[in-house]
Amino acid sequence: AYVNTKEILEKASQEFYAVPALNINNLEFLQVIIEAGLEERAPVIIETSEGAIKYAGNGNILRGAKLFVDMVRAYADTIDIPVALHLDHGKHFEFIMAAIKAGYSSVMIDASEYPFEENLKITKKIVEIAHSVGVSVEAELGRLVGIEDNVIVEEHEAALVDPDEAAEFVEKTGVDFLAPAIGTSHGAFKFKGAAKLDFDRLKKVKNLTNKPLVLHGASSVPQEIVKLAEEYGANFKGAKGVPSEILKEAVRYGINKVNTDTDLRMAFVAGLREFLAGNPAEFDPRKYFKTSKEYVKKVIKDRMRLLDCANKA
Ligand code: G3H
Ligand code: 13P
Ligand code: NA
Ligand code: ZN
Repeated sequence: AYVNTKEILEKASQEFYAVPALNINNLEFLQVIIEAGLEERAPVIIETSEGAIKYAGNGNILRGAKLFVDMVRAYADTIDIPVALHLDHGKHFEFIMAAIKAGYSSVMIDASEYPFEENLKITKKIVEIAHSVGVSVEAELGRLVGIEDNVIVEEHEAALVDPDEAAEFVEKTGVDFLAPAIGTSHGAFKFKGAAKLDFDRLKKVKNLTNKPLVLHGASSVPQEIVKLAEEYGANFKGAKGVPSEILKEAVRYGINKVNTDTDLRMAFVAGLREFLAGNPAEFDPRKYFKTSKEYVKKVIKDRMRLLDCANKA
């Protein structure tokens, strides 16, 4: 069934588990996410970036958003697990409005690059519009500068969420779930040394807001996937993600939505490289995506179990 993201996340928050939010750009990733959800009996959150919407619509934003809604609903409406569709990192009014108009379950307003007061003002406005039509809203506080960045400790800390600001922000904006920056970053190169997140900050934010919380940049970059892709010609030197144990700890301290894109991309390309290397005469995409889809599905199922949302649907 097609549901509101808030429904999925409030249950997760009350019961202290998390649901992976999985980015898609095309049909094949959606197919395996749905299969994984059904096999694990897990709630499913699909998300698309602004770039994904532009890509799907060949530049036409409303068309791209509608394509994703139609595609996701065609699956969601015919199965018995909860499925939500979320706009990831909405930074432009045009994309947010297109997603709402097209029928997304929720949108993220990412005004985290602006000063606190400005972020609050922009987020509040989007919350008013979205809530008037039953769409839930995610916002972000702090910035996702990776630990790999060459910033000194004080600068790094300054980029992370301020728990007191988080409390004020949630209260004044009415936002449904919040992404606090606690030390992750997007992509495949998150940490130079040991992976480390600011759990003291996370605990404070959970206590002060009592909202479902979102971890961005949460891919684990599994080393077996990196190795496999590299065996078939990829170069992912220095790739490093958030280890499983650290993710589990984050869930214990109140993370309920675990944004995952990089791991799916890497698993897909590893499978594609492997398949093409072994089958030089194949040119039917339904066949040459086969290994890719198996690997992506495995990554998703592993996550659903790790985050403890398996058997919750
Ligand atoms: O947060 C970013 C997501 O991984 C999607 O990025 O803009 O390349 O689609 P994208
Ligand atoms: P990763 O790059 O770690 O997969 O993060 C994805 C994300 O945060 C999407 O919003
Ligand atoms: Na998001
Ligand atoms: Zn993100």
